[in-house]
Amino acid sequence: MKQEKLKFVLRGTLIHAPAVGVVEILENALVAVDNRGQISAVTSPGSPDYAALEQAATQAGKLERLAPQEYLLPGLVDTHVHAPQWPQLGKALDRPLDEWLQQYTFPLEARYADAEFAERIYQHLVHTLIANGTTTALYYATIHLESSVRLAEICLEQGQRALVGKVAMDNPDQCPEYYRDASAGQALEDTERFLEQVPDMPGNADGLVRPVITPRFIPACTDELLRGLGELAQRSGCHVQTHCSEGDWEHGYVLERHGKTDTCSLDDFGLLTARTVLAHCDFINESDMGIIKGAQTGISHCPLSNLYFANAVFPARQALDRGLQVGLGTDIAGGANPGILHNCQMAVTASRAREDGVNPDLPPATRGTPGTRIDFREAFWMATAGGGEALGLKVGKFVKDYAFDAIVVDTQAPDSNLIVREDLDEGDDILQKIIYNADRSNIKRVWVQGKLIKS
Ligand code: GUN
Ligand code: FE
Repeated sequence: MKQEKLKFVLRGTLIHAPAVGVVEILENALVAVDNRGQISAVTSPGSPDYAALEQAATQAGKLERLAPQEYLLPGLVDTHVHAPQWPQLGKALDRPLDEWLQQYTFPLEARYADAEFAERIYQHLVHTLIANGTTTALYYATIHLESSVRLAEICLEQGQRALVGKVAMDNPDQCPEYYRDASAGQALEDTERFLEQVPDMPGNADGLVRPVITPRFIPACTDELLRGLGELAQRSGCHVQTHCSEGDWEHGYVLERHGKTDTCSLDDFGLLTARTVLAHCDFINESDMGIIKGAQTGISHCPLSNLYFANAVFPARQALDRGLQVGLGTDIAGGANPGILHNCQMAVTASRAREDGVNPDLPPATRGTPGTRIDFREAFWMATAGGGEALGLKVGKFVKDYAFDAIVVDTQAPDSNLIVREDLDEGDDILQKIIYNADRSNIKRVWVQGKLIKS
């Protein structure tokens, strides 16, 4: 096999989650990145190959050292973002989901018929997510073909790994006339064109940015459209994304319309594949979990959004224990924060509220749901390797043949809220502190596929 050329070697402290709940800290480790941006070696002092790699990299002038206060983490994976909702961040959070969509979201999304408007917002969003350490994002765009393609181009230009969907929604009962696909046929045709155009974008030969089949959610789509998109998913092998059993209203609507859960219905339409990511899944039952696992479908857990719009919190503990593929999502703007680290925190917090319950009028024995908490190690897994698994991408951990998507967290960055002290903090304390208090000022450098995109 051909040996790829060495691009660079970094030496420093690496922190990653190679398996659910496991945090590995590799001090003074070397990570070698080849010309394709893949990790070609990860090695620690004492390993037989360490000295040779260090010497070879030094001689070639390709060894870079991280400072003692800097930590290399895998790039963060956001498995659920509504790109057009970026200007809606932090607005109307007191409305229920259906009202929020109809009165705020759909009028805003309709504006992306204007390519210039789309340009400004999408440039700013992608830049902000990268600044916050998000190296891979799974995006919903809008129903508009032109500005959806533009979002894909902007991700490529800014160097972010992205999966982008032109939203499909044609149901006149649930979507306003000013913002819906003209027909199921038109939505299918535009989706097919989108699936052709994204892989063909200049500079995208390696597939850094990929198209996604995106029925918004069952209420917004006719059965004809869901069937057509399911057939397209089977035929094309492309990624699929949609919302699943998010809140009481939506879950109830599907039970009434189709007489079955979202999971069963999406499965019957051929929309549950190994390349599907279902946002939320808050109300999935045991049988739904079995179907999702069988299909190797991924789940995007959006904890902050859950607390505002879902009337419930996703059963993360159960899902991880059953071996489901779960990543984290911001759900911008349902979740009013662009950070995946913040959503790590929220995933832990939400699970703690779920476990203990929050109603002081109830006795402790019946207040919560015992055994449902997760900790920061599991949240970090979901934010990195779990997200990669859900998307079927080799990203999110420092392992040979994975893509080098990584961030440097500078724990001594000026004007940050983080306080880390070598003499007081040990083991994974530092990671926990990063999750709870690091922000974009601590994220000093960002690489995607071996390419530095923030420094
Ligand atoms: N369900 C359908 N569309 C949306 C959306 O834009 N945000 C959220 N949170 N849920 C949805
Ligand atoms: Fe969403």
